[in-house]
Amino acid sequence: MALKITVIGTGYLGATHAAAMAELGFEVLGLDVVPEKIEMLSAGRVPMYEPGLEELLAKHVAGIEGSSGRLRFTTSWEEVGAFGDVHFVCVNTPQKHGEYACDMSYVDAAFASLAGVVREGALVVGKSTVPVGSAERLAQLLPEGVELAWNPEFLREGFAVNDTLHPDRIVVGVRGERAEKTLREVYAVPVGEGSPFVVTDFPTAELVKTSANSFLATKISFINAMAEVCEAAGGDVAKLAEAIGHDDRIGAKFLRAGIGFGGGCLPKDIRAFMARAGELGADQALTFLREIDSINMRRRGQMVEMAREALGGSTFLGRRVAVLGATFKPDSDDVRDSPALNVAGQIHLQGGQVTVYDPKGMENARRVFPTLGYADSALEAVRGADVVLHLTEWREFRELDPAELAAVASSRVILDGRNALDGERWRTAGWTYRAMGRPT
Ligand code: UGA
Repeated sequence: MALKITVIGTGYLGATHAAAMAELGFEVLGLDVVPEKIEMLSAGRVPMYEPGLEELLAKHVAGIEGSSGRLRFTTSWEEVGAFGDVHFVCVNTPQKHGEYACDMSYVDAAFASLAGVVREGALVVGKSTVPVGSAERLAQLLPEGVELAWNPEFLREGFAVNDTLHPDRIVVGVRGERAEKTLREVYAVPVGEGSPFVVTDFPTAELVKTSANSFLATKISFINAMAEVCEAAGGDVAKLAEAIGHDDRIGAKFLRAGIGFGGGCLPKDIRAFMARAGELGADQALTFLREIDSINMRRRGQMVEMAREALGGSTFLGRRVAVLGATFKPDSDDVRDSPALNVAGQIHLQGGQVTVYDPKGMENARRVFPTLGYADSALEAVRGADVVLHLTEWREFRELDPAELAAVASSRVILDGRNALDGERWRTAGWTYRAMGRPT
């Protein structure tokens, strides 16, 4: 009989994982403690913007016409306990308020609830990003006869469906052969298609996740540090990135200089990693991450200074600033720790009249930063602007017509905080185009 799978926590990770498991042919039950989320998902709607996810849900959610009916959602722990052979825990682990450490309260609560209902012989699989050592501790909370495995997730927002169905690796931390066997069954399709299956112990599996994100953060801050040097020396960081990226030991990806990384993962993961290393007495090993964080945060301030300079160098008071982009990256509506929104906010707090436009992030941006100005289109945001800041590299912005915008802007200056626009096109249309880390 095919395994029955539950997914606990239906945020980005959980909703995508649940839909992907149904796509792989399993019967799936998703649980969330927020009833509104369960109502939405049960109707085939996704509480966030993620390309392809709504289509995948509609294909499988029970009750939707033409669906496989393999995917259902509930708020009942009893139902989850009775249903599942394998329970994936996908709840979030945000940064603690006012601290670097990660907040484990959602994970702890999920394990406590699950422990009360899980069937003997079932397998519990942690997917949340947790401090190393958590799996060892959480295993103690589960009743006798219930095994734990740790199976970190590497999906990127905006590519969540593809990354889950075709992962570039599957990492499982296990203690026994039974857990490994069960997970090989769960992931038989992607493994059959070539995804490497890496079996390891609990601490290594937990560390693979945090070290991967730390490496990615390091790559971005490295190129941003080079951007700072290029700015001082008159070099071109985009050319530099292209040239070093040809060395396949370095690789071309994640070398886009600009206003740096944000989102719900990279910033909080490197901080939680430093905090955990401190607890383990290994803080020296990760002091470099403090520098990675500081380079990253500095970029936001540098963007603000670039804008100030473009406006004549003194004050933002009374000046109109158009901001294109609010989300932490394109193809997402996520504004968590968004560099774009942070830059917009800093200028607003210094007296600038900021008008933001984002293709998908307006609702979330308005919620977290209601005092900024918002426009319904790029054209409206740019109307009357003294300077335009391009802060999230949506395709829509690359496809803008610079001539059309030139006709409504008060002053034709555009600053590219993502090194993603075609500078020549903008210059030809009469704009002063400047990008971070590149010569003027
Ligand atoms: C990141 C990792 O890439 C995933 O592998 C991981 O699973 C996920 O965190 C997680 O821990 O859940 P994500 O936060 O969706 O995924 O976003 P990324 O694509 O990694 O981008 C992060 C930030 O870095 C964005 O703000 C992006 O604009 C910035 N970035 C990325 C750059 O500034 N330059 C680059 O060259 C690449």
